[in-house]
Formats: sequence, structure tokens, C-alpha cells
Amino acid sequence: MEPTFFDVIRERHSVRYYDPEVKISDDELKQMLEEATLAPSSSNLQPWRFLVITDQEAKERLKPIAYGQQQVVDASAVIAVFGDLDSYKQTEKIYNRAVEIGFMDEATKNRMVPRNIETYKNLPPEVARGIVLVDGGLVSMQLMLVAKAHGYDTVPMGGYDSVRFKEEFGVPDRYAQVMLIAVGKAAREAHKSSRLTVDEVTTWNKFE
Ligand SMILES: Cc1cc2nc3c(=O)[nH]c(=O)nc-3n(C[C@H](O)[C@H](O)[C@H](O)COP(=O)(O)O)c2cc1C
Repeated sequence: MEPTFFDVIRERHSVRYYDPEVKISDDELKQMLEEATLAPSSSNLQPWRFLVITDQEAKERLKPIAYGQQQVVDASAVIAVFGDLDSYKQTEKIYNRAVEIGFMDEATKNRMVPRNIETYKNLPPEVARGIVLVDGGLVSMQLMLVAKAHGYDTVPMGGYDSVRFKEEFGVPDRYAQVMLIAVGKAAREAHKSSRLTVDEVTTWNKFE
């Protein structure tokens, strides 16, 4: 039986031990990415970009960069998520597509495209970076839930040397690094993690 959404969010845990024998096909990885990219993004610019690492030799090269975390070698794939700081250059293509499939009228597109390009092109670099990191975080979360719904496990990883990663994998300068996500089949159950209560993290209506 298909897991419900609530099963998926309750049963996703960061898994750090993977069965190295389990391979996920490129087609299924692509399908998961397609589902993940249904996530929302600022002005629908979809700045997320992915590097899918499935070659065993490439995973071995990644291991020291990820400070020896074994999951990058044993998981079926490690997906590096980036935010393209030049994604606004795709505005016309994205909005044309919306017109072609009847989701937007031509006049709206003609009004919005130059306005969006002008806005995004002139953003202070830190603001632009913040936007793509937020969008990159949303697609990353969606990818982890999608993977769980497909019967796989994941762990998000920020524990790696981003400078060495950029050099080793030839990451373009315009790609802000969001996180790595290992995807595979758990070899050992994840340890569960506690949460702050909603009351501890929530204020209603106004900060005093
Ligand atoms: C941005 C980010 C970076 C993380 N980096 C690592 C990492 O490098 N290695 C690791 O084992 N877990 C890493 N984690 C996983 C967290 O430790 C984990 O999500 C947290 O303890 C909650 O556990 P859960 O994911 O099982 O609910 C990271 C999580 C996030 C969101």
C-alpha cells in the first residue's frame, strides 16, 4: 500500500548507513527529481540545479571532502543541490512555457518578464544568494520526502568542504551550494531525533 503523506513525514529520518548493493536507476532518480521540482520558488525561477553522483569512483573522491562520512560511498546516489545565481536569465523561457500551456496570457508575460529580469539582475549579491538558498532548501526537503515515498532513505549533508567540492567537481562560480543529499536504502535503522515543542518555537500574532 502506498504510504500516506503523514507516513512519509513521520518516517523520514536521516539515515547514515546504506546498503551498498542497492542501486537506484537513473530513470527513477530522474523521476524523483521531477517530482521534487514541483516545489515552489521565488517568481517561479526554479534556480535549483543538481549534480547527481552515482559513479562509485566519484563517490570515493567525495568521501574525504565530506570528512570521511561513509554514507557518501554506500548510498546509491549523492545529489548535490545548488542555487543558480543567474537563474533570472531563464525568465523568458519559463514564462513562455507557461503561455504555451495556457497557464499565463501573453500580455501578462510581456509585462512580467522585463520587470522580473530587472529586479533580479539588480539585487544585492547577498539578497540574491539568500533567495536561491531558500528555494534550494525547499526543493531539497521535497526531494527527501519524495525519496521516502519511493521507499528510499536520505540524509541531508552540510558537513563537507565546499571549496574542495567546487574544485573537485568543477562547480560553476554562479552556483551557490545548498547541500548534499545521500539517497539509498537503509542498512541500519536511523536513530530517532527529538524536537522542540511547537510552543517553544512559535509566537502568536506579535513578539512582545
Ligand atoms: C542543512 C543540513 C546539514 C546537515 N548535515 C549533516 C551532515 O553533514 N552529516 C550528517 O550525518 N547529518 C547531517 N544533517 C542531518 C541532521 O543531523 C538531522 O537532520 C537532524 O539531526 C534531525 O534528524 P532527522 O533528519 O533524522 O529528523 C544535516 C541536516 C541539515 C538540514
